[in-house]
Parts: sequence; C-alpha cells; structure tokens
Amino acid sequence: MRTPIIAGNWKLHKNRAEAAELIRQLASMVQDAEATVIIAPVFTTLESARIALEGSNIALAAQNCSCESSGAFTGEVSASHLIDVGCSHVILGHSERRQLFGETDDLINRKISAAQQSGLHTIFCIGETLEEREQDQTLDVLRTQVTEGLAGLSTEQMQDVSIAYEPVWAIGTGKTASTEQAQDVHSFVRGMIFSLFGQQTSERVRILYGGSVKPENVDSLMAQQDIDGALVGGASLKAEDFARIANFRAVN
Ligand code: 13P
Repeated sequence: MRTPIIAGNWKLHKNRAEAAELIRQLASMVQDAEATVIIAPVFTTLESARIALEGSNIALAAQNCSCESSGAFTGEVSASHLIDVGCSHVILGHSERRQLFGETDDLINRKISAAQQSGLHTIFCIGETLEEREQDQTLDVLRTQVTEGLAGLSTEQMQDVSIAYEPVWAIGTGKTASTEQAQDVHSFVRGMIFSLFGQQTSERVRILYGGSVKPENVDSLMAQQDIDGALVGGASLKAEDFARIANFRAVN
C-alpha cells in the first residue's frame, strides 16, 4: 500500500500572517486525512509556518532549493538550510521553474541529488506542454525528464523521491487531464521506474497528479490505480477546498 500524498503548492502567495491563518484553519480540517498532507509556502514564510504547524499533522515543504550546499552562490537557498528551518520535503523541477527560470533536466538532477544528500524528500515534477501533447510527444518528453532528472540516483535514494505528473496545459487553466489520460501517463511513468530502479521501487514510488485538481475532480482521480496523490496549486489557497482534497474519497 502506498500512503497518498496531498501537497499544496502555494507558489508566490500568502505573507506570514496570511500563511499562519490558513494553517490555523487547515490544521483541524485535515487531522484525520488518510494521506501525508504537505504545504509549500514562500521561502520567507517557512519559519513562521513551521511554528504555526506545530501540533498538526501537516508537513512543510519548500518550492525549490539550490543544487549547491554552501559557498559564494548569491541568492540561493540550500537543502540543508531547508532542513534547518523545518522542511521535510521540497518540490523540484516544477514546470514554472523549467519554463520561466530556465531550469534544465541536468540542473534539476543536481538539485534532487543535493536534496537527497541532506535528507529531504523530493517531489519531482514532470509534464508536457500542450504543443508537445498535440505533436504526440508526451511520452518521449516524460521519458527524457524522468531519465535525466533521476540519473545517477541509487535505488535507496529513490525511496525518498515522489514524482508529480503535471501536464503544463492543465496548470492554472481549469483544464484537467481526464482520469484516463492521467492514469495512462502514471502507468507509463511507473513502468519507467520499474526499468530504471526495479520492481520494488516501482511499486513503492508515489506518483502524484497536478493540474487544476479541485474538490470536484479529486475523488475520481484518486480512484485510479496509479494515481497516489495530488499536487495542488490554486485550490490549496482555500482551507475548505484543500481540506476536501486532502480528505478525498476514492470512488470510481
Ligand atoms: P493548479 O492546481 O492551480 O492548476 O496548479 C497546479 C500546480 O502547478 C501545482 O504545483
């Protein structure tokens, strides 16, 4: 059995006071969730978020980290700094980092290695653009992202990596991949993990879906055999919506 992960990516939203208020509302609403519930606030709010999270069952993630551990790297935040502030998880390779900030598969790979070395659990994001899907390149794109992003990782290190499939065309657009489209890709990705890391790892790895996940569609997504969680953007900013997603009911 794979414990589901429901993660809220707050992107560039919520200051310290707003974050603390959202956490206060969420904490009691998700206390019985049968999933690992995670929030990923803005860097500067992580410290106050950690304090607000005390006593809750919500884990703390960052939305990015450096591939460097320390040194003359102006503006960077290392994995060990994230551990120091109380993070247990980090989101890496998000399509916004790839598209808007030029992150390559190689850089993402080095970030994942740095996170693993510090003991952070990585949520590694992959996904194709609309153009790539329309040109029938979805599986090729995902194959490259997975192979290059996870290059050099040991089977042991893979135990602390989850994968989030986020079709770029479904992010913030209100368009969700159909449950069949998502299941097909998740099954393909699990097959890739099988060939790269073996059966046991492929059965254990959590593969999350992301892209316009809402209270209205979470149940049918979570009912799919290879969908083990959700990475939620917009709907994670409202306590009721995110709590409903975290308390999903997997129905067909
Ligand atoms: P939305 O849920 O707003 O589509 O965002 C998805 C996402 O990018 C989560 O990382």
